Amino acid sequence: MNATSCNLTVLRQEVVASDIMRLVVQWQDPSREPHAGQFYMLRAWAADATPILSRPISVDDFDNQTGALTFLYQVKGEGTRKLAALQAGNALTVTGPCGNGFDTAALAASHKRIAVVGGGIGTAPLLLLCKELCRAGVRPDLYVGFRDASYGMESFVPWCHTIHLATDSGSEGHHGLVTDLLDVRNYDIVLTCGPMVMMRGVAKLCADAGVPCLASLEKKMACGLGACLGCTCHTKIGPVTVCKDGPVFSAQEVFD
Ligand SMILES: Cc1cc2nc3c(=O)[nH]c(=O)nc-3n(C[C@H](O)[C@H](O)[C@H](O)COP(=O)(O)OP(=O)(O)OC[C@H]3O[C@@H](n4cnc5c(N)ncnc54)[C@H](O)[C@@H]3O)c2cc1C
Ligand code: FES
Repeated sequence: MNATSCNLTVLRQEVVASDIMRLVVQWQDPSREPHAGQFYMLRAWAADATPILSRPISVDDFDNQTGALTFLYQVKGEGTRKLAALQAGNALTVTGPCGNGFDTAALAASHKRIAVVGGGIGTAPLLLLCKELCRAGVRPDLYVGFRDASYGMESFVPWCHTIHLATDSGSEGHHGLVTDLLDVRNYDIVLTCGPMVMMRGVAKLCADAGVPCLASLEKKMACGLGACLGCTCHTKIGPVTVCKDGPVFSAQEVFD
């Protein structure tokens, strides 16, 4: 268990798009650096204030030179509204880094053609994933889907071989599903994070073509550390906790 609980200082907070925020905090522990696909439990309110539970948010980016740790999140309810009120200099309580994440060194060593597929705010953990894969020697192809306007895509450009964009509204890129653009037979492995319906579709394409697929799952969480069993998921390999055994799983183990 590499997670720790501590207070971090907010460096900046930016509005990225409607209801989409980027929060940058100063990570202080070089012995516990986060990697792609891991997440933190965030709390910007007192221990006795609501909401009772901290909120899980993925690592969007991490700069191991400066310790700048970035979260990209969608404002949905009380917890994320309170996160959105943070300003530079404020304190943020975090527990993490949590979860297994993607083993990007091993992925890049054993797969030369990698597709990364994301949808909506599920693109948040994919930036550090693309960066780590690129640094490990494989520049992935990125496939992303949004309801309407895309956001955050400019950050991906240096780290991806190609970027394929789809929107439900047709306002940008392909008018339709991101899976319409994806021929999984061109890849050695597919890595995905986004709405369950999208990941299920990606997993089915991969299963039909015999291409391995890793999916990063979401579940409501309480402890984030594997202690409360609140995020248990029943899979083909038995019960697993999304927070500790995951959030990254082999798609064939979790999807029918
Ligand atoms: C491992 C993990 C990583 C995540 N990474 C990110 C991220 O990088 N960026 C981001 O914006 N969000 C992320 N989420 C989702 C985020 O945790 C929820 O959106 C957040 O907890 C909502 O809290 P709230 O108090 O604002 O809303 P609430 O008032 O709790 O809920 C508002 C709405 O959001 C839905 N919701 C709550 N929790 C979740 C959840 N876990 N998954 C899906 N929907 C939920 C509720 O059903 C409700 O409809 C992640 C979730 C997990 C489990
Ligand atoms: S949230 Fe407690 S075990 Fe996963």
